[in-house]
Amino acid sequence: MKIMITGAGGFLGSRLCEYFGTESDYEVIQTHRGQPNISDREELLHFMDKNKPEYLIHCAAISNLSSCEADPDGSYQVNVKDSLHLAEASVKCGTKMIFCSSDQVYLKNGIQTPHKESEELMPPHHYGKQKKEAEEWMTNHAKDTVCLRLSWMYDFEKKYQSEHDQLYTLLQNAMKNKEVLSFSVNDIRSITYVREIVTNIEKTFKLPGGIYNFGSENQFTTYDLVGRMLDIMNVEHNMIRKDEKTFSDEARNLGMSLEKIRKYGIELQDTIVGFQQGYMRYVNQ
Ligand SMILES: NC(=O)c1ccc[n+]([C@@H]2O[C@H](COP(=O)([O-])OP(=O)(O)OC[C@H]3O[C@@H](n4cnc5c(N)ncnc54)[C@H](OP(=O)(O)O)[C@@H]3O)[C@@H](O)[C@H]2O)c1
Repeated sequence: MKIMITGAGGFLGSRLCEYFGTESDYEVIQTHRGQPNISDREELLHFMDKNKPEYLIHCAAISNLSSCEADPDGSYQVNVKDSLHLAEASVKCGTKMIFCSSDQVYLKNGIQTPHKESEELMPPHHYGKQKKEAEEWMTNHAKDTVCLRLSWMYDFEKKYQSEHDQLYTLLQNAMKNKEVLSFSVNDIRSITYVREIVTNIEKTFKLPGGIYNFGSENQFTTYDLVGRMLDIMNVEHNMIRKDEKTFSDEARNLGMSLEKIRKYGIELQDTIVGFQQGYMRYVNQ
């Protein structure tokens, strides 16, 4: 079976390419910026029609919130228009598309319990608005598309030096440089070990089209969570500081419920168990 992965050089895409590349059932078609040009509908359709992938995991995006704020039009092109081109081409080519959306769509919707897919959304930033618009279009016009709401992911190692930092590499750098990091006591996020996503994404290929939360469940504040992670690593807590100010006017809760996807037999480890198992695997390799 052929699987096409856009954003093949990115944080998630590169790990998916590596994973599916070692699975004998799959032939991976990696696509990078401009190859093909996903802004060009004809070129993209020609590419997909020629390669005929059974599955497409669309990871290409402007994934950084501040980059989207700085360039709303440029990020709209990639995050919305290009995503719709891929969905349109998938419908024409009979390809099952998996679209990477984000938990940022839940930001500021007023709900403080683990978020469910059916909630009303009102994301304040361009990134969340763009993901929401792409999801809505797919739900109406490319109904077989599976939209996965991913959360903040980390890995224990960078694949490339230029790769963006994430929670674990931030902790590692701080330990090395003897820095103190601040974490909010008013913030809850479904922080997820990327391997959970990579090794479980295949199960989403058979899901009916729709929107699904796809990140580890977590009920701890980021400060408490990082404290538990340090305990697992046997590291003193004096490298983290309680940040009581950020989000003190309105707590941020981006925690997600996996109730919907669980009904289809898909389970992800919660944040602490995912970290514990991942860390043990990492230190014992
Ligand atoms: N990482 C997270 O914690 C997280 C959380 C929630 C949701 N997500 C979503 O998950 C997906 C993957 O995220 P990620 O962390 O892997 O992102 P990433 O590391 O920023 O990678 C994004 C990829 O998209 C490519 N790209 C950007 N503009 C493009 C364009 N115009 N044409 C073609 N390719 C383009 C980039 O190519 P270059 O290498 O050439 O720049 C890069 O390979 C994204 O949809 C993101 O929004 C990620």
